[in-house]
Amino acid sequence: FWFLQGRRRRRQGEPPLENGFLPYLGCALQFSANPLEFLREKQKKHGHIFTCRVAGKYIHFLTDPFSYHALIRQGKHLDWKKFHFATSAKAFGHGSIDPAEGNTTENFHQTFIRTLQGNALDALIEAMMENLQYVMLQSRTSKLQSNIWVTEGLYTFCCQETERAHILNALENFKEFDRIFPALVAGLPIHLFKSAHSAREKLGEALLHKNLLKRDNLSELVTLRMFLNDTLSTFDDMEKAKTHVAVLWASQANTIPATFWSLFYLLKNPEAMRAATKEVQSILESAGEKISLDGKHISLNRKQLDNMPVLDSIIKEAMRLSSASMTFRVAKEDFTLHLENEFYNIRSDDIVALYPQLLHFDPEIYADPLTFKYDRFLNENGEEKTDFYRNGRKLKYYYMPFGTGIAKCPGRLFAVHEIKQFLVLVFSYFEIELVDNNVQCPSLDQSRAGLGILQPVNDIDFRYRLKCL
Ligand code: HEM
Repeated sequence: FWFLQGRRRRRQGEPPLENGFLPYLGCALQFSANPLEFLREKQKKHGHIFTCRVAGKYIHFLTDPFSYHALIRQGKHLDWKKFHFATSAKAFGHGSIDPAEGNTTENFHQTFIRTLQGNALDALIEAMMENLQYVMLQSRTSKLQSNIWVTEGLYTFCCQETERAHILNALENFKEFDRIFPALVAGLPIHLFKSAHSAREKLGEALLHKNLLKRDNLSELVTLRMFLNDTLSTFDDMEKAKTHVAVLWASQANTIPATFWSLFYLLKNPEAMRAATKEVQSILESAGEKISLDGKHISLNRKQLDNMPVLDSIIKEAMRLSSASMTFRVAKEDFTLHLENEFYNIRSDDIVALYPQLLHFDPEIYADPLTFKYDRFLNENGEEKTDFYRNGRKLKYYYMPFGTGIAKCPGRLFAVHEIKQFLVLVFSYFEIELVDNNVQCPSLDQSRAGLGILQPVNDIDFRYRLKCL
């Protein structure tokens, strides 16, 4: 039987195996139709570890949160870089960024940590505060005659505000390219998608070093990456630009939907809205900031933004409900994976993966898991809640939209600050409401499962107008 060829047989000591029915694809179609349901079903059948053949690869899923640390601990057998490097080259069209392949000696991981965290983060926050207010107020004065309601799609609004603050005029190209991103990650060549290909080239064009140099106020992230491209790599101009497109994508693709969900759930939950507005007012007051429309911008620094536990909880809860990231590691050699009380043999080149949505939607950890509860991440004292339990045991891993271990998102602090800043400014300057208060919560677009925060399948109409100050 030709279609059975290439299938693996389970060897002794290996996790239970699902080859799936399709040649090559294996379980890929069932998995991609609804990953959460698929994994729950297999978990019921096999227990907390099992192997699925997906598009020619063998993926071992660890589904018990108490085993997650196994993936992090066994770093010497598991590679986290190769997969990321290969995916980036495939999706963005630059040459390999794996130093082992000789195009560059830049340590990207270090660059990101250095330019997105620590002191660099303060500067990013300051610039974002200015940019967001420019985009919200100055750039749309014609739309915002006072007292007039403007009706728009909420997703479109979040997209414009966050994205235009980063890179004016590139919005349409970004969207066009981002639409087919899951297909590129799955391995389809970009030439199949003419308009997305051309959009990616245009984004690259805008991020050529000669064009970046024309901009004011470049972040340390961009300047350092330009310098390292120029000094440590053999990339040509367009390839250098494409490494910037990759960072642009990483900085936008999850932040935009996360912003949408945070604002959407706030608009749907008056109690959450009241608590959020109260917190925003009190932080502005204690910072001595006055809201005005005479061109003087609000300014909140990192410390002040860090002191907003209610918004933190709201953003976390919105991301818990919408995140479908996946953590991958690739086995460098045959090895034995040690879990809590057992061990399994893993073959070289196999993938070990976590799918934290299983955790985020586990009713034992999060009671009533499909319901938005704005204070789920607050304790009795109104501070950040960090104790979550399963089977009576305290969990170390209970919230993972940013991945975990060494490859954890380096932009996570900036991302949460950005969303907070966005919400503070929206509540400060605008009255805002849903067009239909009874509107259903849109479903999650599963085509992006595994890639981060999922987008809504449809936009939601809302309206806003400038507050009379
Ligand atoms: C990687 C999530 C915002 C920059 C990642 C990963 C996840 C993630 C899940 C992969 C981690 C892994 O493989 O285990 C998110 C979410 C965001 C967000 C949910 C917003 C809500 C940002 C922002 C930036 C950023 C604002 C930059 C300004 C990056 C970079 C990587 C990354 C550069 C690749 C890191 C590496 O491979 O070394 N992010 N991210 N992210 N993220 Fe984010």
